[in-house]
Parts: sequence; C-alpha cells; structure tokens
Amino acid sequence: MSPFHKIILTGLLMITPITIATAKDSKPKNIPALKDNLPGPFAVGAAITPNDTYGSNDHCLILQKHFSAIVAENCMKPDTIESSRGNFNFEQADKIVDFANKNNMRVRWHTLCWHQQTPAWMSRGADGKDATKEEAKENLKTYIQTVMAHNKGRHIDSYDVVNECISDQTFELRSEREGARWMATIGPEYIDDAFIWAHEADPDAFLVINDYNLESNVNKRKAMYELVKGMKERGVPVDGIGMQMHIDIYGPSAAEIKESIDYFAELGVKVLVTEMDMSCYKWEDRSRFMNKTAHDEAMVVQADRYKEIFNVFGQAAKAGKLDMVVFWGIDDGNSWKNGFPVQGRTDYPLLFDYKLNPKSCFWSVIGKKEPKK
Ligand code: G3I
Repeated sequence: MSPFHKIILTGLLMITPITIATAKDSKPKNIPALKDNLPGPFAVGAAITPNDTYGSNDHCLILQKHFSAIVAENCMKPDTIESSRGNFNFEQADKIVDFANKNNMRVRWHTLCWHQQTPAWMSRGADGKDATKEEAKENLKTYIQTVMAHNKGRHIDSYDVVNECISDQTFELRSEREGARWMATIGPEYIDDAFIWAHEADPDAFLVINDYNLESNVNKRKAMYELVKGMKERGVPVDGIGMQMHIDIYGPSAAEIKESIDYFAELGVKVLVTEMDMSCYKWEDRSRFMNKTAHDEAMVVQADRYKEIFNVFGQAAKAGKLDMVVFWGIDDGNSWKNGFPVQGRTDYPLLFDYKLNPKSCFWSVIGKKEPKK
C-alpha cells in the first residue's frame, strides 16, 4: 500500500465511526412516535417533496414513523401540474399520493387556485391573447376538473381549492395589483366558481379555503369569516378553513389561536392547520443568524409555545372542531423559512433539527421528558 493510500485509509477509519453514529442518531428508532402521542385525536402531517418518499431516505423513515398525513410542498401546484395548456403532468404528485396510500396516511392537495405558482397561459385564451372572462373561466374549470378526475379514487383527504385570496392591506379580496390574476380575468366570483366546479367534479371531496395570518390578524380573520359565511349563505360547497399558521416564537398567543379556531368553527366548517411552523425571529428582524445563546433561549421558548398551542389543538380536536395539523416541512434544514423573509437565513421553525433529530419542542408536544444530550 502506498503512503498515499495509507493516509486515505487511516482517514476513512477515523471518519467512519463518527459518520455512522451521526446517521444512526438521525434514524427515528428509540423515539416515541409523534402521531401516537398527540394531545388529542387529530392527524399530524408534513409538507414534503417526492424525494422524501424514497425508502433509502431518512426523511422517508421519519414520515413513516411520526406522521399520519402529507401534502406536497410544491408539486401539486398549477405550474407543475399543467405548465402549458393541455399538458398535464401528475408524475411528481402521484409519487406523493401513492406513498400516502401505501403507508395508510392521509394526503392533502395544495392547491387548485392561487395567484402564485400559476402559469401565465391560464390568463390567456387559446390564441395567446389576454383571456376574456369566459376563456379564463374555462381555463380554471378545466384545470380543476381534470385534476380532480385524475385523483378520483386516490383518497385525497382534502383540497385547498382557493389559496390566499384575502388582501393583507384592505382585508377585501386580493386585487390584481396584489397579484391576483383571477380577480382581473374572472372577477370576485372566481372563488364561488372554483368551489362549485370542484364539487361538481367530485361531490365527495372535502373542500378548503386556505390562508395565512388568520390567527394573528383580527381583520384578516374577520374577512375570512365573512367570506365563508357569505359562501355558505349562497350555497357554495365549502367544508373547511385552512389556517396556515406560519407563526414565530413571539406570537400569536395560544389564546388567540384558540379564539380563531372557535370563531371559524361557529360557521359549521372544520378547521385545519395546514402549514405550521414557528420561526425563531421576530417578523421585523432582518438578521440572518442568531448566536448560540439566542438560539438556546429560542429553543426553550419554542418548546413552551409549541406545547401550549398543541394543547389548544388537542382540545379543539376533542370538541370536533379540528382534525389535522400539518407542518410546512419535516425538519429545520429544509424549511422555506431559511429563505423567507430573509434570503440565506438560518431558522429553526420545525420539530426536527438540521440533523433530523427531535428537538425540545418535539418532546414538549408529545408531553414527554427530553432525554439528556
Ligand atoms: O424548482 C426550482 C428549481 O428548478 C430552481 O433551480 C430554483 C431556483 O430558485 O427554484 C426552484 O423553485 C422554487 C420552488 O420553491 C421549489 O423549491 C421556487 O423558486 C420558489 O419560489 C418556491 O418557493 C415555494 C413557495 O411556496 C412559492 O410561493 C416554497 O418552496 C414553498 O414552501 C412555498 O409554500 C407556500 C405555500 O404554497 C402557500 N403558503 C405559504 C407557503 C410558504 O411561502
């Protein structure tokens, strides 16, 4: 053996045990399963990518052990499903749905109608010119009904039919100026239409209207309440309100969250928590990193807050108001919060850390003592 190879081999022998130990630590072996230790009768889910479903992947093991529901973080959105007119591609989404069916998990569909991740052709006629109202309606109707026909019999638990349609500025419907192309092409009726078309395609489907800041902004919450109330009065088939729950360690309080769930439940719809995470930064804070002391303090606050909030979910579930809580991601390392609202930030919003180990908040949620590190 050449001296060079000796060095490499010695190096490998030195590295190997550490690498194996790390991989072992990250495997969800001797840890209680999240889904079996929740403070109430609700499913717990995560937003994932198709890669997370491959058996060799640690994410896959975590999903199978800890979660009872999934949704695609991106690949069920219109820009993936029908990137150009008539060319439907369900390959990625099907991987996720098949994985859920195979593993006896519930699977959500996010989302049929949104102002983001929606291809430009949907606002155009077949001739490439700006769509007339009728053409835009036809585009949206065909899209919704083709997706739902494809999914029929594939056990989609609920659909986010319309996503983020309320303005953060006016608390009315999001305008074209705020990106809502459907408002420009179809007008405010696009919301009722989308639900009616979805129900027509699959009368058994559970149809949800989904938005953010409903738990923290009283005006937005009220706007959603009035919107859904009106829909119900008009006989529009809406079954659930999705509260995204992108919150932080500073707020909103567990009491505000409870108040919002109770308020929406008055409408006779189910509440779903659809995209939960808890940033460790204040919204106004634009820093990219926090030092170890700040991080360690944040982890303590986060564990307390997650516990309090999950207890609220548990009570709401026991009262029949809520039956699913979905995290927007599995682990801190893959969270969208590392890029928003500050690019390249390091954030810690979820229950599993960068090495895929359960964090203090994991243990607080399941009400068990965290083992010593
Ligand atoms: O796939 C491309 C890749 O090919 C390219 O190299 C890369 C370069 O930027 O971009 C990749 O696409 C990105 C995509 O995520 C997949 O990673 C897009 O740029 C990026 O904009 C997109 O962000 C997603 C965002 O929705 C878009 O609005 C986030 O991952 C996703 O977490 C986020 O999810 C939303 C919910 O749908 C609705 N509620 C808020 C939530 C968080 O923003």
